[in-house]
Amino acid sequence: ALAAGSAAPSLGFQAIPVSTADSVVVPAGYRVQTFIPWGTPISGSLPTFSLEASGEDQAHQVGSHHDGMHFFPLEDSSRDGLLVLNHEYVEPRFLHAAAQGLALDSEGFPQHEDGSRDADQVRKELNAHGVSVVRVRQADDGQWQVVEDERNRRITGLTPMRLAGPVAGTEHVVTKYSPDGSMTRGTLNNCSHGVTPWNTYLAAEENWSGYFANEDTEIDRRQARFGIQTRSEGRYQWHRAEGGADEFVRFDATSRGASPREDYRNEPHTFGYMTEIDPHDPDSTPVKRTHLGRFAHEGVIFAPAVEGQPVVCYSGDDARFEYIYKFVSARPYQAANADGSLLDEGTLYVARFNDDGSGEWLALAPGENGLTPGNGFADLADILVNTRSAADQVGATKMDRPEWGAVDPATGQVYFTLTNNTRRSEEQRNAANPRAENHFGHIIRWQEDGTHAAERFQWDIFLLAGDQETGRDMNGEPLDQDAILASPDGLWIDPDRRVWIQTDISESAVNTGVYAPFGNNQMLVANPETGELKRFLTGPVGQEITGIAMTPDQRTLFVNVQHPGANTSAADFAEGRLVSHWPEGGSAIPRSATLVITREDGGIVGT
Ligand code: FEO
Ligand code: CA
Ligand code: CA
Ligand code: CA
Repeated sequence: ALAAGSAAPSLGFQAIPVSTADSVVVPAGYRVQTFIPWGTPISGSLPTFSLEASGEDQAHQVGSHHDGMHFFPLEDSSRDGLLVLNHEYVEPRFLHAAAQGLALDSEGFPQHEDGSRDADQVRKELNAHGVSVVRVRQADDGQWQVVEDERNRRITGLTPMRLAGPVAGTEHVVTKYSPDGSMTRGTLNNCSHGVTPWNTYLAAEENWSGYFANEDTEIDRRQARFGIQTRSEGRYQWHRAEGGADEFVRFDATSRGASPREDYRNEPHTFGYMTEIDPHDPDSTPVKRTHLGRFAHEGVIFAPAVEGQPVVCYSGDDARFEYIYKFVSARPYQAANADGSLLDEGTLYVARFNDDGSGEWLALAPGENGLTPGNGFADLADILVNTRSAADQVGATKMDRPEWGAVDPATGQVYFTLTNNTRRSEEQRNAANPRAENHFGHIIRWQEDGTHAAERFQWDIFLLAGDQETGRDMNGEPLDQDAILASPDGLWIDPDRRVWIQTDISESAVNTGVYAPFGNNQMLVANPETGELKRFLTGPVGQEITGIAMTPDQRTLFVNVQHPGANTSAADFAEGRLVSHWPEGGSAIPRSATLVITREDGGIVGT
């Protein structure tokens, strides 16, 4: 096992039991405020939430499916700041609950008889994706409120974005919209996030491939390795919006024109990146940082920046048998002039976890580890646009769906959740992914040999998630009933070293079969010194708990509830029966929202 750090954090709250109720439960002595649900007005003419809201209204309202999140304090305040959060995707049945007369396709999207889609509904779906920047302030009564502010902003699936780093300006990203390959539109499926040492926000593009149609009969690895299929229509069918607007048509990646300058065959190559947003400058253009690799980015976590040393960050590719990556900048960090261009030059590495507890970072760079033209990797841009194929070539370790990472501020140890992988066979087991049919997931951690830029590390397993029979803490002890969990996903370590763990048992599985003991998705807290683990929060029906941020004084905790009621069956929906009405209750449509958690005595959350 890895060496211990120093002071263990206290976990003084009383653990709560698992729950299947359509409500949020926190320990005694804690308060919860439900905040900024989908549709909350934040900018423009502040259009109020209604199920009839237009696609344009949605561009001025909080998006749906809240996910990764950060609180940027204003003037170091813990009561006034910019809350920035991702909106991963949409639930079309709820988004368009007021739409009448259109049949729903198998995914729940309303469509016309000829398969075309209503253009305003498509606009609303695109604008419900992306990122919200919202100024928030705590009133004297302790409640948090949205504050009108020029920085309040929606970045959506339609916002113009700049491409930066080695892929920018190459033939891979030439489109009709950007013949010089410098620009694209929108960021999609923003799961988790990162916060840079220069105080900007990075939104991850995770399951972006599902947005694209492609009728071509052959697709190369730039799309095929990421899940786009030949003769495929995509899940959302945005390219079938009535009127044929270019901003919608581009989701058809079929080679239709005479050259890439005349169609959108390359549009998917402008997705799969980390998108940098400066929340303090509402006029700034978001930037996709291509040197951090192209894959199903769950998020990114930065090691603490050290003056004069390279910037280092870690990122997981959340799909079965995919990899964990690390980027090390070429230029050193200098606080006085650091900015996103530091992420445009450096080395992307991928992790190999050896069975003896050692590990190494394998460079994904031209000429290194077999990444040569002879093996099909022409240059750095070709390696990056095909990050997964490059990682395959160098022999990295295929993991059980890498999700969030976190860095322990005392030890520098890096933790990563591996949410589950039921397709791993007995033969495919290894020490870092020790379970066949891994239903419940685990958490791995490592210590770099020296600085975060090191090329070797030592690793161990911090937690095997599961029930009382199958779960094991870092000491190999069974989990007690207050600590059982499955499918760890969200992960954050607070300044006192509490390890916050959020779960995402999928809506199709939660509360059924092997997942029945765990109840609704939840959040727990672990002690990294002792392995102690206690349940802190349970969420409503059909959701996942994801996204976590704290004020600098640690007295306000923000947590997101994503996709409540997503397990409503098509038959129940057709009859008007929803399994969740959270947060409003009654007969309301369920809505993703942020929870604001404080202590009744005003103390530090989690102690
Ligand atoms: Fe969007 Fe991997 O969770
Ligand atoms: Ca996630
Ligand atoms: Ca999810
Ligand atoms: Ca997940």
